[in-house]
Amino acid sequence: MSQDTVSIKNNNTGQEAEFSLLQGTLGTPTVDIGSLNNNLGLFTYDPGFVSTASCKSKITYINGGKGVLLYRGYPIEQLAKQSSFLEVSYLLMNGELPNEKELFSFTDEINNHSMLHEALSGSLRGFHYDAHPMAMMVGVVGSLSAFYHGQLDMEDPEHRRISALRMLAKMPTIAAACYRHSVGYPIVYPRFDLEYCENFLNMMFSRPSETYIDKNNYIDPVTVKALNLLFILHADHEQNASTSTVRLASSTGANPYACIAAGISALWGPAHGGANEAVLKMLAEIGTVENIPKYLAKAKDKNDPFRLMGFGHRVYKNFDPRATITRETCHEVLAHFPSNDPLFELALALEEHALKDEYFIEKKLYPNVDFYSGIIYRALKIPENMFTVMFVIARTAGWVSHWLEMMAEPNHRISRPRQLYTGYDKRDYLPRESRK
Ligand code: CMC
Repeated sequence: MSQDTVSIKNNNTGQEAEFSLLQGTLGTPTVDIGSLNNNLGLFTYDPGFVSTASCKSKITYINGGKGVLLYRGYPIEQLAKQSSFLEVSYLLMNGELPNEKELFSFTDEINNHSMLHEALSGSLRGFHYDAHPMAMMVGVVGSLSAFYHGQLDMEDPEHRRISALRMLAKMPTIAAACYRHSVGYPIVYPRFDLEYCENFLNMMFSRPSETYIDKNNYIDPVTVKALNLLFILHADHEQNASTSTVRLASSTGANPYACIAAGISALWGPAHGGANEAVLKMLAEIGTVENIPKYLAKAKDKNDPFRLMGFGHRVYKNFDPRATITRETCHEVLAHFPSNDPLFELALALEEHALKDEYFIEKKLYPNVDFYSGIIYRALKIPENMFTVMFVIARTAGWVSHWLEMMAEPNHRISRPRQLYTGYDKRDYLPRESRK
């Protein structure tokens, strides 16, 4: 038998077949079981996709055991320290870091696509004032498909590139508009002279009487740096639930804006992007260091649905490299702002207790990226219900990169998982009068 194959034998029938063993540039060897059904009449069962690669991708690599995260080969630590979010977005979308000229023209294109059609702003006004901003994001981003549909030729790479750019460009404008609507303020238009994160902060917070950016264009550099950093850390994470949702929806050839709206919906859940908001709610509920043992006991109790939010990860089993960076940044940001946030002290104490606890050690549960990101956002005065929206803005870079990669594949197929049916065997229809 060649080294590049794996044999699977059905012990019931004695039938055996060989399957290719694929090896990527890095990572776990992967069995190509696409012909399993044809060869052996079998499906595989893997709820939660614990052992299943759903695609080939050149974008992001994670080694969960060693805490490694690479975007297009570059370690996250280096990008976080030296890059900007737009530079990282360009890298994810195009495969290489931009030179000065490429970055200039990319930034220019992003600026040009950052405006919203007035009719779209109108549809936003239809939401009730207390709608959750994530609910508005799903609706407003989905409704972009009504503005850009007929003229899109998804076979044309340039049309695809513009569609991807448009999403990245409009996301901060839509996000800030959702927030402004929720507090009853008029929408602020994007400014082409500001950088991506500065522009977002300006659209979020400026008011006629106290503009967020003064006439000298001064904006707090610590805030901008922290925002860039969080956006970089959240920009991509290979086949996570929301990216897989975008890929699955896109595999049908659906409108790209509708597919991104599907990704936003998937991100909202507390097991995924909703965790940053859930962490702050949890810390507020715990309240004081004295209560930590009680809440750790709840988290360990199988009969209690409570989990430590911001802890655990499907892929990282030693540490999440993004969490190491957010923890450091939290110290820097909180030192910069005068108000000492008691929730940060509580978070540090909770982390310390959990990391010494046998349950968390045994199950390899460590703080993930979102354990500290919410505290940073809070220090930057981002409202709690906007935390997951911030994640949306950042992850859009990853979603559109995966969408571009998938759409460029010559023979991409519709994603259509199989199932293990556990319902009734075939049975006859009973007329209504004979039913018990
Ligand atoms: N608190 C308490 N117990 C936990 C936790 C937690 N946060 N996470 C996992 N466990 C336990 C779980 O009960 C299970 O125990 P057992 O083996 O006895 O049944 C075991 O650890 C494995 O958990 P799992 O749910 O099978 O693991 P998973 O890989 O399916 O889920 C996770 C990963 C991130 C959804 C989960 O750890 C979790 O719910 N964490 C809290 C939510 C959170 O912080 N999510 C943000 C993830 S990072 C941002 C992102 O990428 O979206």
